[in-house]
Amino acid sequence: MIQHVILPGGEAVPALGQGTWYMGESAGRRAAEVDALRHGIAQGLRLIDTAEMYADGGAEKVVGEAIRGQRDQVFLVTKVYPHNASRKGAVAACERSLARLATDRIDLYLLHWRGSVPFHETVDAFERLQAAGKIRHWGVSNLDADDMAELWHTAGGERVATNQVLYNLGRRGLEWDLQPWCRERGVPLMAYSPLEQARLLDDPGLADIAGDLSATPAQVALAWLLRQEDVMAIPKAGSRRHVDDNLAALSLRLDDAVLAALDRRFPPPDGPSALEML
Ligand SMILES: NC(=O)c1ccc[n+]([C@@H]2O[C@H](COP(=O)([O-])OP(=O)(O)OC[C@H]3O[C@@H](n4cnc5c(N)ncnc54)[C@H](OP(=O)(O)O)[C@@H]3O)[C@@H](O)[C@H]2O)c1
Repeated sequence: MIQHVILPGGEAVPALGQGTWYMGESAGRRAAEVDALRHGIAQGLRLIDTAEMYADGGAEKVVGEAIRGQRDQVFLVTKVYPHNASRKGAVAACERSLARLATDRIDLYLLHWRGSVPFHETVDAFERLQAAGKIRHWGVSNLDADDMAELWHTAGGERVATNQVLYNLGRRGLEWDLQPWCRERGVPLMAYSPLEQARLLDDPGLADIAGDLSATPAQVALAWLLRQEDVMAIPKAGSRRHVDDNLAALSLRLDDAVLAALDRRFPPPDGPSALEML
């Protein structure tokens, strides 16, 4: 059964979702991408993450097709480019995303990364979009602890619903400062590239640990993230086979001995470091 993460404000969203980076780039793969997303939704992976950036809007169109006829089943996340995140620009970008997604609302609209537009302008735009019913929640992506503190002190900034960040077994630096900061304030993290774009799956140490559990490396990597009740993960899977593999992570429990073995192979941070991004 799918577990949930509680957003600030109390809404429960699926902890395991589906990413879409690199979808919408090839006409030949489109049907399989739509099929994989639909299959995932049917299995409970109802949170779908996309961005205006991906395939220059093409990924949003794939998502639009995948959710057709079942919009209400899905928690839809998309992102605005920093250079579009001004008071006027964000509203226009949101309208374009809505058109590509063929829907009247976005469930969670994220600032993709920090750019030159001041936070107060972006927050203002997000709050207007929210008041107009175009977006239900807003959040950020790729913000480090200092950025989050600055956002928090911007009027309305404490209404941020999530921070979507690069987080996986091999990218644990944020556990030092960003994660405790967010945890103290009830802001959940959304882990992107949870499989390190599949590179993590070739790690021999992870393969051994997975083998001992009769699980796949992807399942262990996802279960490791999802054991934390305030972390969502959004692996991208382009086929039903990968969707099913990732789904099985939800029933994999990692005991203390396994967690210790993972800590030895992928050590937690022992000091501050810059937030990594892809
Ligand atoms: N906010 C940001 O700046 C940011 C940055 C990066 C990503 N993201 C979001 O996070 C999502 C996930 O990250 P990602 O796409 O970069 O990388 P990822 O989810 O870590 O890895 C995706 C890769 O892993 C493969 N894969 C998926 N499930 C698998 C399985 N069970 N076994 C073997 N291989 C598997 C996929 O292959 P197939 O395609 O063949 O299934 C794909 O090549 C993105 O799609 C995007 O929505 C956000």
